[in-house]
Amino acid sequence: MHPSSDSLLIDRFGRQINYVRLSVTDRCDLRCVYCMSEDMTFVPREQLLTLEEISRIGRLFVEMGVDKIRITGGEPLTRKNILQVFESLGQLTGLKDLTITTNGTLLSSYAQALKDAGVTRVNISLDTLDTERFKAITRVGKLAKTLQGIDAALEAGFQSVKLNAVVLKNRNHDEVHKLVEFARQRGMDISFIEEMPLGIVGDHDRAEAFYSSEQIRNDLLKYYQLTASNESTGGPARYYRMPDSNSRVGFISPHSHNFCDTCNRVRVTAEGRLLLCLGQEHSIDLRRSLRAHPLDDAAVRQDLLNAMQIKPQGHNFNLALQPVIMRHMNTTGG
Ligand code: GTP
Ligand code: 5AD
Ligand code: SF4
Repeated sequence: MHPSSDSLLIDRFGRQINYVRLSVTDRCDLRCVYCMSEDMTFVPREQLLTLEEISRIGRLFVEMGVDKIRITGGEPLTRKNILQVFESLGQLTGLKDLTITTNGTLLSSYAQALKDAGVTRVNISLDTLDTERFKAITRVGKLAKTLQGIDAALEAGFQSVKLNAVVLKNRNHDEVHKLVEFARQRGMDISFIEEMPLGIVGDHDRAEAFYSSEQIRNDLLKYYQLTASNESTGGPARYYRMPDSNSRVGFISPHSHNFCDTCNRVRVTAEGRLLLCLGQEHSIDLRRSLRAHPLDDAAVRQDLLNAMQIKPQGHNFNLALQPVIMRHMNTTGG
């Protein structure tokens, strides 16, 4: 079905939604300090959207002009039978980009199957190349597993395999150059992310750990010539190129650069809450809509159109205050 102009998802500020992030589980095999608290309560399994419902949501969005879907978590590959969702979404005409954000721990078993299902690009979180630091940041993780996952993704031949690093002062800020080097050696892009205040994490002080994109860029300028580029992957990163490499260095800077004006995305949580902004609570209960209209796609599409009226203009993150958004990042997968 080709979207007609009155079924396009356009909000009150004239922004068109063409990118949807679907979280398929809030569970994860890691416990990154900036994402979760140590003892988390997860959504009971019976409250999750079914795999069929997730696929239906993806299809409806594509019918409304969405051409990029990213599957997120928690860790999406921990959801049982998740390949089924990729296989179903991979067949949608009109979907140009089917992507996943993963911590990489399970990619050595899944990379090839994801490629075969039609996944175009993979983003893998990697904050450090040091085993001890990796353990400290993820609380439980093993660096070697994520590195094996990265190798498997590179071998599978995706259009791109990108690294994401959340940079924290005194935890990994002195490693950004090594991470860029690692990415360059493998022909990958890398994005550095400023930490965002979502949910309370008792043993981690976000204001103290803040390290801005500008600081990172200055640190990197000692090693590389960085030239701003106006390329976009449809996400919030601003990219820089280096003269002697194909790798790009991206910066996701919600604190020092506001990208909300050009926001093109919405999110769905694993329970089926459609969130209109990562940094606000505006949402609708999409699960209820799906279950009220099991055979009536038009009714669900109408609910999606109506939701555009409550998409807020932007986030207002403030590291000096207690977080106003109580959900942790694993609810949305970023
Ligand atoms: P590409 O498709 O490669 O551009 O990826 P992406 O940046 O859209 O997605 P990814 O899952 O790699 O996200 C990287 C970081 O960007 C995560 O920490 C997300 O939380 C953050 N991010 C993505 N969209 C938004 C947004 O709308 N607002 C904010 N504040 N952060 C966002
Ligand atoms: N702030 C910024 N990025 C975060 N991520 C998880 N929690 C946070 C946070 N509080 C990142 C992960 C992953 C991406 C989906 O979001 O490291 O790369
Ligand atoms: Fe898991 Fe990703 Fe959160 Fe780390 S950031 S705990 S890998 S969901």
